[in-house]
Amino acid sequence: MQNKKKPQQKSNQSNSESEDTVPWWKDAVVYQIYPRSFQDSNGDGIGDLQGIIDRLDYLNGKEDSLGIDAIWLSPIYPSPMIDFGYDISDYHNIDPIFGDMYTFKILLKECHKRNIKVIMDLVINHTSDKHPWFMESKSSIDNPKRDWYIWKKAVNGKVPNNWMAAFGGRGWEWDESTQEYYFHGFTVEQPDLNWRNPEVRNEIIKMIRFWLDLGVDGFRLDVVNYYFKDDKFRDNPSHFFNGIREYERQDHIFDRNLPETHEFLQDFRELLDSYDGDRMSVGEVFMHPPGNAELPASFYGLEKKELHMAFNFSFLFCKWDTRSFKKVIQDWERNLKEDMWPNYTLSNHDQKRHITRYEKGNQTILRAKISAIMLLTLRGTPFLYYGEEIGMNSDSIPRKFIQDPLGVKYWPLFAGRDNCRQPMCWNKDENFGFSTNSPWLPTSKEGSITNVEEGSKNSNSLLNLYKKLITIRKKEKALQRGSQKLLFINNDKILAYIRIYKEQKIIILLNFTQEETRFFSGDEIGGYDRGKVLFSTNRKEESYFDLNIIALLPYEGIIIKLET
Ligand code: GLC
Ligand code: CA
Repeated sequence: MQNKKKPQQKSNQSNSESEDTVPWWKDAVVYQIYPRSFQDSNGDGIGDLQGIIDRLDYLNGKEDSLGIDAIWLSPIYPSPMIDFGYDISDYHNIDPIFGDMYTFKILLKECHKRNIKVIMDLVINHTSDKHPWFMESKSSIDNPKRDWYIWKKAVNGKVPNNWMAAFGGRGWEWDESTQEYYFHGFTVEQPDLNWRNPEVRNEIIKMIRFWLDLGVDGFRLDVVNYYFKDDKFRDNPSHFFNGIREYERQDHIFDRNLPETHEFLQDFRELLDSYDGDRMSVGEVFMHPPGNAELPASFYGLEKKELHMAFNFSFLFCKWDTRSFKKVIQDWERNLKEDMWPNYTLSNHDQKRHITRYEKGNQTILRAKISAIMLLTLRGTPFLYYGEEIGMNSDSIPRKFIQDPLGVKYWPLFAGRDNCRQPMCWNKDENFGFSTNSPWLPTSKEGSITNVEEGSKNSNSLLNLYKKLITIRKKEKALQRGSQKLLFINNDKILAYIRIYKEQKIIILLNFTQEETRFFSGDEIGGYDRGKVLFSTNRKEESYFDLNIIALLPYEGIIIKLET
């Protein structure tokens, strides 16, 4: 092998961190669990904490585990479950449907034993209307907690301003007994807290301490850009057609992204940093339509640190087209400053699963594989969504089973989000090993490409591909920590990039089409004639790949290590 020019190391590798001080969440693969749907342990048809404990070996700790490093649990606190836990009625406890505090502590211990960190969902823009704070607040105009929520008088007999609820309709709900409106950014049962009230902020901080003291490793912050509202309650300007609903046709300059949020996040970050063990935070920056990375990037903090990461949801809206993925990657890398760490996600509990978004006959599984390789080799923390590793899809759900408040409200225009929250498919048994009883949501026969039991046995399965990729990512520091540069950017068939860490160089080549590709690499790879295959969807590992001519089979994905 001859080495001509060596590729230059790009500067997006942070220099301030030495080998051992890289915080765990940068090296981690995070796995989101929707607790209702992971594993039921007591036969009531609803997933629970004991169920998660019973399945931890699947996630990490055993030789054939998936190998993820952290779980993010969608909310498990007591809740009337109008929005399935995103409406919290007690921040200091566990909903009996999921278990109790004792079981939670066992879960935490069992996770830590297996090197799995635990990330809690922090839903603090709003509470449930059954939260004692709101019950008090609602009880009378002069209740000491009145100002903990956003109450306004009618203006000329009408709502105070034009703010809408993200879930449809006006954001203002009339309260007959106290003759005022309260504001809710989501359902009527989710009143927004008044973040301008220091007592509210103190109480929230105390609650965050409570979970940190228990030993949780981090938080996912629900709609973090939503907390503060304009203190003058000005109308949002309308926006040229941006969507179907009125909510989407406003510029949300007065009901979200207010600068005060950043002050709170700076204090929040200080609090996290005062604990040992690199407690982390990742925020959901809710925006419509999904914009570029500028807004999420602003939540990392400029002069003072804020969140460790803000989600980049752009992949959720990419077409199956290398150009749209390249655009997102470039945009993210451009907007993040040196110390800001990217993250990627293809599916979550609010969107149709990516396997369904990219469905195309017998190409579906091939696309699922290509997208998994991309997610697990890009620079940035990958967030997986339970079941994507076995190819669970977003089947449509018969109307009579629909549970999501959004689906109930907007069917048939919008069937809601139940179709990405179906029970995990563990095996071929009745109810797919999820429960001995009929599950809270149906899982159909065609609901998944494979199940855990079968996928584990088949070396060519999607599940085994995830396992292998996670193993490789951990072994090769370049994939975890290396800099990144896109290659062959004008070739629309492939997505390709090089990851560099110290002496290590790894090239990822992904053919997004069902056609073969074959072209001369020119100088782009910078002087390497061949490299060793670390992973490929089609060819043998350890074989050599000719880097002078890039020849890829249809939908081939390949990871190549350059040898110096
Ligand atoms: C976030 C959650 C979503 C929830 C909403 C209100 O967008 O991801 O599931 O319904 O916030 O809390
Ligand atoms: Ca249960």
